[in-house]
Amino acid sequence: MKFFVDTADIKEIKDLAATGMVDGVTTNPSLAAKSGKKFVELITEICAVCPGPVSAEVTALDHATMMKEAEVLRKIAKNVTIKVPLTPDGLKTCKALSDDGTMVNVTLCFSPAQALLAAKAGAAFISPFVGRLDDVGQDGMELIDDICTIYRNYGFATEVLVASIRHPMHVVEAAKIGAHVATMPPATLRQLFNHPLTDKGLKAFMDDWAKTGQSIL
Ligand code: G3P
Repeated sequence: MKFFVDTADIKEIKDLAATGMVDGVTTNPSLAAKSGKKFVELITEICAVCPGPVSAEVTALDHATMMKEAEVLRKIAKNVTIKVPLTPDGLKTCKALSDDGTMVNVTLCFSPAQALLAAKAGAAFISPFVGRLDDVGQDGMELIDDICTIYRNYGFATEVLVASIRHPMHVVEAAKIGAHVATMPPATLRQLFNHPLTDKGLKAFMDDWAKTGQSIL
């Protein structure tokens, strides 16, 4: 399973990239706004830090303007993935860009039928939002299961990029289903490293080692 970080915070991306666990970055207009940076500069900076796919979302709602925005964004770097919303115009843009060899991430997916459309439009990634579905009393992980089944049934190459992840169990459940990618906030990626028994066990080992008075070096 690939891990992407869902943030526009360069410091966080650099820190986490150093762990070797970051395969890509996803951003959205809300995260970009929070960064306070000019969008093109922000994406340029992220692409310089992360060689994997970096999702940059268009902000137009109509196909023609989405294409113009995508033209600007895809010139930034080879690893820019154009993110489009799951709307008729977004999917039209997805098809045009995918046919042209550009990676597209279709976002704001909340149903298996929407995911099927994105795959037919040639999306490199589909982003189903599990946390936001859980928030309204629907099982987000059931959607991941459905999409993975549908994509397997037809051999679609579109990768399931589980988004709106809120905690480590979302990552584990998505991995058990076989989703290709999990994008998560930096704090969630850090949580994956932790277990209290690891801390406790390490402390006991270190205490016993200190009693020997030895040093490996
Ligand atoms: O980037 C899309 C998605 O991951 C947003 O997550 O927590 O705002 O629902 P969230």
